[in-house]
Amino acid sequence: MKIGIIGTGYVGSTTAFALMLQGIVSEMVLIDVNRDKAEGEALDLIHSMSFVNPIEIYAGDYRDLKDASVVIISAGPSISKGETRLDLASKNYKVFRKIVPKIVENNENCILLVVTNPVDVLSYVTLKLSGFPENRVIGSGTVLDSSRFRAALSKKLNVDARNIHAYIIGEHGDSQVAAWSLTNIMGIKFDEFCATYIKNFDPAIKQEIEREVKYSAYKVIEKKGATSFAVALAIAKIVKSILRDENSILTVSTYVRSLYEIEDVFLSLPCVVNRNGVDKVLLPPLLPAEKGALRNSAEVIKSYIDQLMS
Ligand code: 2OP
Repeated sequence: MKIGIIGTGYVGSTTAFALMLQGIVSEMVLIDVNRDKAEGEALDLIHSMSFVNPIEIYAGDYRDLKDASVVIISAGPSISKGETRLDLASKNYKVFRKIVPKIVENNENCILLVVTNPVDVLSYVTLKLSGFPENRVIGSGTVLDSSRFRAALSKKLNVDARNIHAYIIGEHGDSQVAAWSLTNIMGIKFDEFCATYIKNFDPAIKQEIEREVKYSAYKVIEKKGATSFAVALAIAKIVKSILRDENSILTVSTYVRSLYEIEDVFLSLPCVVNRNGVDKVLLPPLLPAEKGALRNSAEVIKSYIDQLMS
């Protein structure tokens, strides 16, 4: 139950905090190019020892990854105001070319969980640089966006988000796809639920929610400079599903060799996640328009991969 976190910025350090609070791991090594930052975060976390389950936390280097089950990569610059995730592709590609070989040198058996943006592009890069099997390279993908989707629906419908099944698939970015046809509340399809239970239901609500979800990260970044809490919990959920072999269905970014006429790319689809990493990719019955939007999202991601790797 040991994990490594590479990159202790907002996302990496908040993830460490979330994992510590949830008592999911017994040992956690924090690695950062700025060793002081990793040491400071580790110390701050260690000072909570009397409030949480026993856990060993320390700042270390790549050799300390030796026996980690999961290595989370959250290193590299994150988006600033006015940037899209894809704008970070070439900068973070350079970072990954340094990091991934160093992880593999020290641990060939771990699961690599990529968080850095653009996450789909960098997950592909990680698969190629590591030579790992496809099931052991996972991107955090749209697990966070699906949570944002459920939060937005919860607010509009006045129903607990945990009773809403709703998924964002495709790119963790501007071309993401809200799979409305799969959205249901206790098995009741979204449209039917609204027609029956929501007074003066306006179908335009769908576009409004989609927009809100798609651009919510930009709104947070505009106001507080970065996103951290929800993404950390999304990552903790993925880690928990791996370490506890939960078989949770999560919209992680996964390698698609050939599905829905989409080939050789990473993007998010509902996946069964367990101790093998991505154990199965599910193919829900999407509408033709949703499949089209998913293919478009794949093209967007692919164009960035091609630019980087050609
Ligand atoms: C997020 O969606 C910026 O990808 C990050 O919060």
